[in-house]
Amino acid sequence: MIDEVDKLIKILEDISLGDYSNDIMTFTTGGHSKRIQRIAEAVGMMMVKVETREFALKLMVEQLQKLNETIKENTLQTVGSIAKALGARDKYTEGHAERVAAYSKRLALRLNLSTKETHDIQVSGVLHDIGKIGFSDQVFENSDTKVSHEIFAEIRQHPIRTRQILQGLEFLGPAIDYAAAHHEKIDGTGYPDGLAGDQIPLGAKILAVADCFDAITTTRSYQAARSTEKALELLKEISGNHLDPFLVKTFSEEIRENGMETKT
Ligand SMILES: [Fe+2]
Repeated sequence: MIDEVDKLIKILEDISLGDYSNDIMTFTTGGHSKRIQRIAEAVGMMMVKVETREFALKLMVEQLQKLNETIKENTLQTVGSIAKALGARDKYTEGHAERVAAYSKRLALRLNLSTKETHDIQVSGVLHDIGKIGFSDQVFENSDTKVSHEIFAEIRQHPIRTRQILQGLEFLGPAIDYAAAHHEKIDGTGYPDGLAGDQIPLGAKILAVADCFDAITTTRSYQAARSTEKALELLKEISGNHLDPFLVKTFSEEIRENGMETKT
């Protein structure tokens, strides 16, 4: 009798620690006292109910995770649509966000960055200029190559506005930092924070290369589109002070091998 109770207690202790491997049901058969059998049956029932609830909980967590992913995806598409809507205010930048995202993704893949990093960089490409949504009409209508101090001050604000708009969307993670730093230059003369070299996140440096290349190869209010080779030449000229030389070199190889984006 003592042995029987001790064995049962040991099984109950194991169960309390989450070890369900001991078969409590062996105590529910004949050969055991009625009281032991009743305890074993009650514990067996309890374990079945606990396992059922655990399974239901696991399913619920999985559903919530899927729902969370869907919400993130929908939010991203909504914010992305707003970013793309900039094209409605400025015909020269139509398709710019998508092309910068595509070029940035290609460069990230060529650099063998992880899937997560590549995704963050691609997302920041779509959203990098969303802060321009607050530009006054005079900035969008400006066609002078030399901009006034006033307009330049407004232009310099857009990465800050981009951060302000995106900062509530925590799931964007480092993509916010990349977008906010896409006008920083490696010699420290960029904006908004004057970051230099390694202070600038790699994602932002990649964006900067893609952003410059697309700006040079598309017609803007202040310039006609340049050829691919001319654009790569210009990127090389500004690498070392504005852009990261290794990224420019890798990007040039990518463009020469696989061509330009055609999305408009
Ligand atoms: Fe920008």
